[in-house]
Amino acid sequence: MALSDYRTALVTGASSGIGRATARALAERGLTVHAAARREERLNELAKTSGIVPLALDLRDTEALYDRLAGLEVDVLVNNAGTGRGFGGVCTATAQDIDTTLGTNVVAVYHLLRALLPGMVERRRGHVVNIGSTAGLYPITSAIYGGSKGAVHMLGSNLRLELRGSGVRVTEVCPGRVKTEIFDAAFDDPAVAAKVKDTGIEDLLPEDIAEAILYALDVPWRVNVSTLEIVPNEQSYGGMHLAPAERG
Ligand SMILES: NC(=O)c1ccc[n+]([C@@H]2O[C@H](COP(=O)([O-])OP(=O)(O)OC[C@H]3O[C@@H](n4cnc5c(N)ncnc54)[C@H](OP(=O)(O)O)[C@@H]3O)[C@@H](O)[C@H]2O)c1
Repeated sequence: MALSDYRTALVTGASSGIGRATARALAERGLTVHAAARREERLNELAKTSGIVPLALDLRDTEALYDRLAGLEVDVLVNNAGTGRGFGGVCTATAQDIDTTLGTNVVAVYHLLRALLPGMVERRRGHVVNIGSTAGLYPITSAIYGGSKGAVHMLGSNLRLELRGSGVRVTEVCPGRVKTEIFDAAFDDPAVAAKVKDTGIEDLLPEDIAEAILYALDVPWRVNVSTLEIVPNEQSYGGMHLAPAERG
């Protein structure tokens, strides 16, 4: 089983960044892609690409999530939607920042799995792709965001064990810095967002991650791409590290 055997996909967070690029890439490969996010007008724009079906949904609305996904059969689930509210640290985060980040990055992923995995297992055909982060593998001084992505890392590896022999594959993709809207959504003050975005390095593009997802989906059935860590050439573990000589 490879990409050509998968017919349908659900990509969360498809209204921008990595999710949008992935939805487009999968549709171009002939899959019917259910593109989920809250901003409906963006999804409608995306749905001008043939094969993309808009699914306007707030993933933190658990009742709506189960309601909208009832009866949906997908071969590929890309758990991509995410946010970095409370990025500045636990001491300065609001209670809502904590609920939003963990609710979107972690809790919603469990509900999506609960809604869609049993069908994949029953059909013995499926592939779960979780978008983690290097922040889930190495500390980046952001306990809320890093902790949420650390949870994604462990949920994925435990899921691999739970699903062994089931016919469903599990892949985690851990990007470093990607040029997307994530920091615009994470910070209320555009000046702070601009400062965080100004890495001084060449960030990855969303399409770089979409390509990696296609690779993981397309490998022969005997292969499971378990964890992919993909960072900008100029980024090392965690942060935007300059080479020692450049630090002065
Ligand atoms: N950019 C990076 O440097 C980077 C690095 C490592 C990992 N990641 C991860 O990559 C994933 C994609 O992020 P991105 O960088 O592409 O950021 P992005 O451009 O901000 O995209 C985030 C997506 O998540 C959706 N989303 C957020 N909350 C949602 C909710 N409650 N219900 C439904 N959809 C929701 C947003 O859509 P709506 O606002 O329309 O709902 C948007 O489509 C995230 O999991 C992020 O943590 C990003």
